[in-house]
Amino acid sequence: MAQDTLTITDNRTNRTYTLPIENGTIRAMDLRQMKTGPEDFGLMTYDPAFMNTAACRSSITFIDGERGILEYRGYPIEVLAEHCTFLEVAYLLLFGELPDEPELKSWTNEITHHSMLQEATKKFMEGFRYDAHPMAMLVSTVAALSAVYPGAKEVHDPANRLLQIKRLIGKMPSIAAMSYRHNVGFPYVYPDNDLSYTENFMNMLWKMVEPKYVANPVLARALDILFILHADHEQNCSTSAMRSVGSSYADPYLATAAAAAALSGSLHGGANEQVLKMLDEIGSKENVPAYLKKVREGHVKLMGFGHRVYKNYDPRAKIIKWAAEQVFEVTGRNPKLDIGLELERIALEDDYFVSRKLYPNVDFYSGIIYQAMGFKPEMFTALFAIPRTVGWLAQWQEMIVDPEQKISRPRQIYTGQRARRFLPMEERQAADVAKMDR
Ligand code: CMC
Repeated sequence: MAQDTLTITDNRTNRTYTLPIENGTIRAMDLRQMKTGPEDFGLMTYDPAFMNTAACRSSITFIDGERGILEYRGYPIEVLAEHCTFLEVAYLLLFGELPDEPELKSWTNEITHHSMLQEATKKFMEGFRYDAHPMAMLVSTVAALSAVYPGAKEVHDPANRLLQIKRLIGKMPSIAAMSYRHNVGFPYVYPDNDLSYTENFMNMLWKMVEPKYVANPVLARALDILFILHADHEQNCSTSAMRSVGSSYADPYLATAAAAAALSGSLHGGANEQVLKMLDEIGSKENVPAYLKKVREGHVKLMGFGHRVYKNYDPRAKIIKWAAEQVFEVTGRNPKLDIGLELERIALEDDYFVSRKLYPNVDFYSGIIYQAMGFKPEMFTALFAIPRTVGWLAQWQEMIVDPEQKISRPRQIYTGQRARRFLPMEERQAADVAKMDR
């Protein structure tokens, strides 16, 4: 009868070991018993970039990358995007169940009442240079909240954790909006508690002198759907940063700042801004084949394409294409969509992309919608950070209460020198540091 075990013979010693297989994994620590002698540390795995290592158990988000399936707490993303609001999905991600009506009302009310920033935080933001990138401001300001809420370090107190979670979800749009207003030189707008989460964000971004901001309902709903799509994506780079930093019991503001910093990179959330720059560079549909040639030759990457997990169409990209049509009915069509569609059409028939299973990811079309809605490309990654904060916090909370988790601390294979003789200053010769790969 088939057994859920793996038998390994260590040819160095001729010893055989039988390891349990659970959930399609073996435990890396089970390898440690495989030694060549008492002095041997024991076998480890080498997995740069965690290509094949599960670092946690999680019941939040399920992805089947081969089939292009994404589920939050067991619900398909398509269903949630069609029927829910972002705050409803935030509740689901954090607590595991969809809220009933009174629960959603009270949850929405609580998040809304945490949207205000202290004046000290506002002054902190005012100190940035006029042209500071919104993500630089967002990362620093979220970290600075640690100074405003020093009690947040009590990470083992469930009530305290929940309070910080609500504060972070409530304040993230305010921080992002203020970074934008700072960048364009307009006065900051305070939150309006009459408005929904996304309407209020639009209010803080775009209110000018009118007494009451009224958001276009189609655009507010499209933004809400985009927030739902970006809310969580299991163990991506920024979530791993959140878990890793949080595993040292750093407070959630500092851990979220670390996660947002990871998100800002161009291979991760920063890709949406890069996609727009790429479309600008391509300029028109006619230039698409020449650009794809540069990609094939390895001179540039096709931004917004490819994914570590999805080897099929990213289900979020499909919903975004649908949302784009709704937005364009209000704003008019963003001509960049045509370049994007042409890139996708040719790439999906091209052997380079087909053989590598490279498909459009969530960042490919999101920027085109954001731009049509009036966002500057520098804001795109902040628009990703607002909803992903929910995912980071859900994953952080899960990590904190998981008895199997410890401080995150990978191993290394040391490749440097050992036991060198120390040279006094007069014996040293200048090394050509410019040639050294540092
Ligand atoms: N353009 C051209 N070639 C690519 C691309 C791309 N966008 N993505 C992957 N490849 C090639 C890569 O060069 C490699 O080719 P080869 O086997 O000949 O060396 C092969 O495909 C496998 O790629 P990889 O680099 O091993 O894949 P990875 O899992 O390490 O990287 C990725 C995943 C998302 C970083 C990468 O696909 C990429 O850089 N994409 C562009 C940036 C982007 O759109 N990022 C957003 C990701 S989705 C949202 C998010 O996570 O924030």
